[in-house]
Amino acid sequence: MMLDSTLDVSASRPPRRGLPNLGLGVGLRNKHFSYLMTHDPDVDWFEIISENFIDNYGYARSVLKHVASVRSVVMHGVSLSIGSTDPLDWEYLKKLKALAEFVNPAWVSDHLCWTGVAGVNTHDLLPMPLNEESLSHVTERVHQVQNFLERPLVLENPSSYLEFKESTIAEWTFLSELASETGCGLLLDVNNVYVSGYNHGFDAEHYIRSISHDAVVQIHLAGPTDCGRYLVDTHDQPVPTRVWELYKLAQELTGGVSTLLEWDANIPDFPELVVELRKAEAALRGENPGAPIHKSDGTSAVSNPVDFQFSTDNV
Ligand SMILES: [Fe+2]
Repeated sequence: MMLDSTLDVSASRPPRRGLPNLGLGVGLRNKHFSYLMTHDPDVDWFEIISENFIDNYGYARSVLKHVASVRSVVMHGVSLSIGSTDPLDWEYLKKLKALAEFVNPAWVSDHLCWTGVAGVNTHDLLPMPLNEESLSHVTERVHQVQNFLERPLVLENPSSYLEFKESTIAEWTFLSELASETGCGLLLDVNNVYVSGYNHGFDAEHYIRSISHDAVVQIHLAGPTDCGRYLVDTHDQPVPTRVWELYKLAQELTGGVSTLLEWDANIPDFPELVVELRKAEAALRGENPGAPIHKSDGTSAVSNPVDFQFSTDNV
């Protein structure tokens, strides 16, 4: 696909740091639409899944317009596929930019991942090999996306369940160098750090201490599911104790950035969701608001699984 002739994809723009701390927010989800149209929500801001509103001009768009008129909104996408070797999808980016002009988000985010190849969208956030070649590849594409959107781009660390033998750079170093090279911001999902650390045997605290704190503009919180050998990033239960501990550490190191609670299955009613979100304030006071992690068989773990080391070849 040809690039729009008006695009300047070569010039680097100044860094986009200094984005505001929006406070405590939640995802905008269908389940809460009617509540939000009739109540003043007790949250500071909302994050939308961009794809839920692209080409959607029905009731959902009306709700979005209302919410964006009363609270700050951030756009969070799942289809950028910044790591793919496919060309960037300029039709998708045009729609993303049009939605951004409608919403006027504080920033636009997506994930360090690839979601497909050969024009196929797998609708999965697939992990990348992390090395100098892929860093160069993603750096160039981030420049192009930022120059096109003319808005801050923020990238999130994904949860992952396998690693590549070709990887030579730690994920926290890869993201930090990417942010340094492009001026993009980082979305630090501390639950994803916990999940990936558990699955791959790295120290989640070391990850959070090592990532570029100046580049982090947002944090995600969520609750995973204990599947025994693996933790799975299910977003379907309360935030566990260890994730709250990592959150407190991250906020101390970053100096305080926007916090977003993700909850995408078994979603509670809005007031209950706010109760879970407000635990962030307790966590920052050093209290322990965490819950046990539910197992995949529906039972609860006695305590949170701890980061552990195991010996395995990368796959
Ligand atoms: Fe996340």
